[in-house]
Amino acid sequence: MLVKSENIICELINQILVITINRPDKLNALNKQTIEELHETLVGAENQNDVRVVIITGSGQKAFVAGADISELAGLSVEEGKQLSSNGHFKIFNFIENYSKPIIAAINGFSLGAGLELAMACHIRVMSDTAKMGLPEVSLGLIPGYGGTQRLAQLVGKGKAFEMITSGDSINAQDAYKWGLVNHLTLQEELLAKCFEISNKIILKSPHAVKIAIKTINAGYNNKLNGFEVEIEEFGKIFSTHDAKEGVSAFLEKRKPDFKGE
Ligand code: COA
Repeated sequence: MLVKSENIICELINQILVITINRPDKLNALNKQTIEELHETLVGAENQNDVRVVIITGSGQKAFVAGADISELAGLSVEEGKQLSSNGHFKIFNFIENYSKPIIAAINGFSLGAGLELAMACHIRVMSDTAKMGLPEVSLGLIPGYGGTQRLAQLVGKGKAFEMITSGDSINAQDAYKWGLVNHLTLQEELLAKCFEISNKIILKSPHAVKIAIKTINAGYNNKLNGFEVEIEEFGKIFSTHDAKEGVSAFLEKRKPDFKGE
């Protein structure tokens, strides 16, 4: 199944939804329209049982996403700037982080500004070994507004986040990997295959357990929650599910589990 809207292409391949941001002439910069299309696609896919994992990538060889669309930033008022940021958080960045199915960023090229913020909101990051990452907003007199100041420090630590954000410098793929900003590096032509390999492992597991694992990991990064308490609670609740009963029985009976996601 291949579905195209103005700025994104979606293809469902064996329970893996590949979303390609498709504005190669603008290096896949995230404009408002693309944010809306991404949001709508993700909302739809969340209720589709035949979507188990989502991969987000960029069109072409040059860019994953080269940032928010700078042409939409000119002349914003204080209120409009705040609105742009909070709308992005709500519709894409927090939405992806808290999505009930794993989302993998396949970083095929420049991942700058909102592009790095998008990659960091995803659960897993795989990067082409020629791609570059950075948060160059200070070069425009701005700061990251889609979670970059928070998620970068979570992933690479405060010191490196200060350096990257205040200098606006990009880092190469090797440093991104060394710093823990991405899980895997691949050759450009093997990028999607690596994402599929990871996805295919996830697909064999209980959809319900995967969903609750995402929720519980995220709880530890939410100041209002105690991650350990959430884990204890969720660990208890999971014993009422079909998948937990099935998974444990299947192991003891030396057979493959038949998970139903409930
Ligand atoms: N928003 C809007 N348009 C963008 C864009 C962005 N973030 N990034 C690139 N583009 C557009 C360019 O304006 C250009 O469009 P044009 O051909 O109509 O003039 C096209 O994409 C190609 O980009 P170009 O700058 O010519 O490519 P390059 O190879 O010389 O440089 C980059 C590549 C990524 C280094 C450069 O495009 C860049 O610095 N982009 C902005 C990155 C940024 O600051 N992101 C944070 C935004 S908050």
